[in-house]
This record gives sequence, C-alpha cells and structure tokens, in this order.
Amino acid sequence: MEELQELKRRRQAIILAHNYQPPAIQDLADHVGDSLELSLLAARADARVIVFCGVDFMAEAAALLAPDKLVLLPDLRARCSLADMITPEDVRALRTMHPGAAVLSYINTSAAVKAESDVTVTSSNAQRVLDAIPNGEVIFVPDGNLGRYLATRSGRRVVTWDGHCRAHHEVRVDDVRTARRLHPRAVLMVHPEVRPEISACADLVLGTGGMVRMARERPETEFIVGTEAGLLHRLTGENPGKRFYLLSPSLWCHTMKYTTRDRIIACLRDLEPRVQVPPGVAARARRAMERMVELT
Ligand code: 13P
Repeated sequence: MEELQELKRRRQAIILAHNYQPPAIQDLADHVGDSLELSLLAARADARVIVFCGVDFMAEAAALLAPDKLVLLPDLRARCSLADMITPEDVRALRTMHPGAAVLSYINTSAAVKAESDVTVTSSNAQRVLDAIPNGEVIFVPDGNLGRYLATRSGRRVVTWDGHCRAHHEVRVDDVRTARRLHPRAVLMVHPEVRPEISACADLVLGTGGMVRMARERPETEFIVGTEAGLLHRLTGENPGKRFYLLSPSLWCHTMKYTTRDRIIACLRDLEPRVQVPPGVAARARRAMERMVELT
C-alpha cells in the first residue's frame, strides 16, 4: 500500500473502481461508483492520471469526458462482451433500414459505436433520455433486454439489437422463485439487463447506483440483488444492519475481476496500458456522451 500511495502521489493519480470490482480493489479506490458516476468523476477530478478499475468501455468513456487526463486500464483483458456484440458498421446498417430513427447507444459500447449514435445512455438515465427524444422511432443498441424494457416502460416503438450481458441474461425465473421462497420479506431489485420475464417480476429495476441508493433509503432490511456479485461488497459495507442475497450464481463477470493491486502498481509505474481514442472518433463519440449529460 505504501508503494501504491507513493506512486499515486508522484503521478497525481486517482483510482476509480466500478461497483463490480473485487472487494480489495473497491477498498483501495478513491471512488467506487456506477458507470456514469465514474465517467463524470473522471472529468471533474483534480488529477493528471486516472486509473480506471473496470472494463474497457468504461475507461474509454472516462477518456472521452476527460481528454486532458491520461486514462489507464490496469489489464487490457478486461473487456465487456456485451460491448463487443455490435460494430459501427452494424449501427450504420440499422440507420439505413430505419431512416429518421434516433440512435441511442448504451454506455456499454466502444467509442466507435458511440460515434455513430445520436446520444449515449446508461441504465441510470436511459428512460429519462428516451423521454427527452421527440416522438418517433428509436433504435437502441446493443442490449436487447434493456431495449425491450424501455419499450415496455415508455410504450414507444424501439428497434432493438440482439446483444446481451452474459451474467444478467443467465438469470432464470427459477432463480427468482428460489430466492423469494428463501427470503420472503426481501425486496427484489434487478438490473435492466436481465430478461424481460425477470424484470417483470422484480420489485425494483435499477442500475447499480440506484441499487446503492435504494438499499440506503428503503426501510426494509433484506434485499435480493439481481446484478453482478461485486456490488454486494459495497451494499453490505454501507448498510451494516441490512442483509443482501445474490439472486443467481450466474451473476459473476470474469473480466471485471482481472484488476489486482500489483497491476495497479505496475500501470502507475509504467503509465501503461493507456486508453486512447483516435481524435476523429473521439469528437463524435464525445458529442453523444455530452448530449446524454445535457438531457439528464
Ligand atoms: P451500471 O451503469 O449500473 O454501473 O452498470 C454497468 C454495467 O456494465 C452493467 O452490466
């Protein structure tokens, strides 16, 4: 820890960790948060170097909103398989098939896909952004479950893409039945990346930041958590009198767990691996992210 603190001071660095990171990484980070909070923090932080403990698209989003800072991702194997399920060419083809439709891309996309989009959204603001888009057809990529959830909530025609998060998509109705039986008094909160039949039977459908807030504010003392297992560390730490149960053992993201303390030390020492977005792509992708910030 001493070596880490000394390197951080020397590099004028801060460490940001997503809510899904391993407990030891959350504990050493300067800030732990959801994908949107961390990108905004990266932009505002009084630092020259950002060590982003999360997956590739999150570090890219931080690099887009903080172009004056050096963004490091401790392990380049930390990729989001959902973000890899769509390419910029796919988005261009969708636009050709649905001329005039607004393109909303989930934050879980590459900068190149964001650059083809009108506006970016996260699970915490997708509904608000959609409501701010004038009536008419909307394309939402790449998470099909979140797209269908938005269509149901808003009553609007949403063209979806067939992408999914492997961890959330694996949750089944049987998992809900078992968890409800074992914990009948618990509030069931799920991430909108779960299948529609799972979000339909949940008490709350929220992004990770919303779950943190609800766990703090709600009077209930038991919660079944339908998102990646890493969030339980934060929930239990911040709410000592309350209990949290993981909805399904499938809720485990392997690539989120590549970050280690040694890798953080190595990247602060070497200032590598860097996350950089080519300028042509960056300008257009940043515009889509800035529109999201304006609309929320
Ligand atoms: P949040 O935006 O809720 O942090 O979720 C990010 C994510 O990758 C969900 O799988």
